[in-house]
Amino acid sequence: MIILGIVAYTHDSAACLLKDGEVLAFIEEERLNREKHTTAFPYKAISAILEMVPIEFSDIDHICYFSQPWREISQNLGHFIRYFPKTLNLFSNSASGAMESGFLSAIKEQMKLRSLLAKKFPIDERQKISFFPHHLCHAASAYYMSPFQDAAILTLDGRGESTTTLMAEAHGGKIEVLKSISVPHSLGHLYAAITEYLGFKSFNDEWKVMGLSAYGGPSQVKFFEKLIEYKGRGNFELNLDYFQFHTHGQDQWLSDLFYEEFGPKRNPDDEITPLHQDYAFALQYMTELIGLELSRYLKDRTGQDRLCLAGGVALNCLMNSRIIEESGFSEVFVQPIAGDAGTALGACLLKYQEGQDSKISPPLADLYWGPSYKDEQLEEALKTNNLNFTRPESIEEAVAEEIDKGQVICWFQGKMEAGPRALGNRSILADPRRKDMKDILNEKVKKREYFRPFAPSVSEEDYKDYFEIPGDQLSPYMILTGKVKNEAAPKIPAVTHVDQTARIQTVNEKQNPKYHKLIKAFQAKTGVPVLLNTSFNENEPIVCSPQDAIDCFLRTEIDVLALGPYLVMRKK
Ligand SMILES: [Fe+2]
Repeated sequence: MIILGIVAYTHDSAACLLKDGEVLAFIEEERLNREKHTTAFPYKAISAILEMVPIEFSDIDHICYFSQPWREISQNLGHFIRYFPKTLNLFSNSASGAMESGFLSAIKEQMKLRSLLAKKFPIDERQKISFFPHHLCHAASAYYMSPFQDAAILTLDGRGESTTTLMAEAHGGKIEVLKSISVPHSLGHLYAAITEYLGFKSFNDEWKVMGLSAYGGPSQVKFFEKLIEYKGRGNFELNLDYFQFHTHGQDQWLSDLFYEEFGPKRNPDDEITPLHQDYAFALQYMTELIGLELSRYLKDRTGQDRLCLAGGVALNCLMNSRIIEESGFSEVFVQPIAGDAGTALGACLLKYQEGQDSKISPPLADLYWGPSYKDEQLEEALKTNNLNFTRPESIEEAVAEEIDKGQVICWFQGKMEAGPRALGNRSILADPRRKDMKDILNEKVKKREYFRPFAPSVSEEDYKDYFEIPGDQLSPYMILTGKVKNEAAPKIPAVTHVDQTARIQTVNEKQNPKYHKLIKAFQAKTGVPVLLNTSFNENEPIVCSPQDAIDCFLRTEIDVLALGPYLVMRKK
């Protein structure tokens, strides 16, 4: 059975193609239309997928959508009545009350899925369309991709339809929903609200706030305890006295009372004060606390030993690490495309598993699901751009040597990674031993704030010499945070955060032989099996095509471009 999964009209549009349970391709639309977190219909992603695989659109048996738009109608009406008359404000706010008030037009679009597809593809009546509940898609993406037959499942995000949190239990391929929490009580929206309050962009810069939290202390925790409370038995609530997004829309997250007590919002260009750092700390503290309490409740209620996690909040790798260490589950699987894009995968898996008595979908093996390019195409792109290049005997050896010299490398190899992290195929790489490398990278390309860490990739067989990973598990997808060991921290200062944590990628030969070989070549030269790995982009989606890669290389001051087997050195 060939299934196409679609996510559209929400942040992180994406498409996924599943054949007999195996992911043949998965692409986020942003990689192709070059608009970060795009909400556009994923026409480009579907077309690119059809170019990658030897099938035609007419070979697709089933099309699966990541949400049930009509549920939003009834649930939004219920929300409107519940918070009436304050919800009348939604009608006077055309800006971003869209989720509550402008939802009808979005829903109308989504209900026309067949005609939307027919604009570009030869869809016929034989091809059925299914709409699945959003959080069930998150849950399915985690459970069916996990190595577990039986497990508890927790999903957390801003909202999907009206659900913000879902707790479930899975046995033998079937998911049973135990409990869900609805808007406005949302951990994702709390994080978004404070992200914006701190002068960053909600649904975009939550990473920054997580990074900033390491610089803060607990002075504001007691005040943040007023904003959100764990109520026991798997329930939490926001204190709505402090919020107004549910009655005024998402450009007015917080109430007057919040500003009275916590002070004015930070403007993006304002200095970040110790108080801002403490707010970030308190937000992170409460997020971890709620995530932990919900996980512990699920553990008690289900008696399961294993937990699957997904939803946008599960991109919070600090929270994930605490859940692994402290929730009581012996094993935890975090689906690495935890945000909404991953529900394209979940929707496909729900269809594939229908009517099955056991989990028949294979566990996640890697995330290299995007386009790749032949050497001739790479060479052609270099010639078209008039770049001088060489083809060294071993690209890994040549690049390891350049990194050892302190050069910053654009590393473009094989199939593009799915999900928010660069995993060694579309990466910028540098020497983690150099204390000044963070500043050099920021100067040359990343222009990041001082408080944002850079992550390490380490060969799987060597990671224990450098890092402690929660639960002693591997971290191939950078979705967990570990500790840099005391004796290792001085050796790799560029990837050690201020609290001595790191968002680690463990790399093995099977998942990514080329990247593994490069790390080992660097180790042979330097004794250190670690590279600094950051995404190959400059304030844009991660590069996809050779031309994207060349454009980014030319626009920035990166020293070296390794495009497949070819090496381009920047002229000094
Ligand atoms: Fe979601």
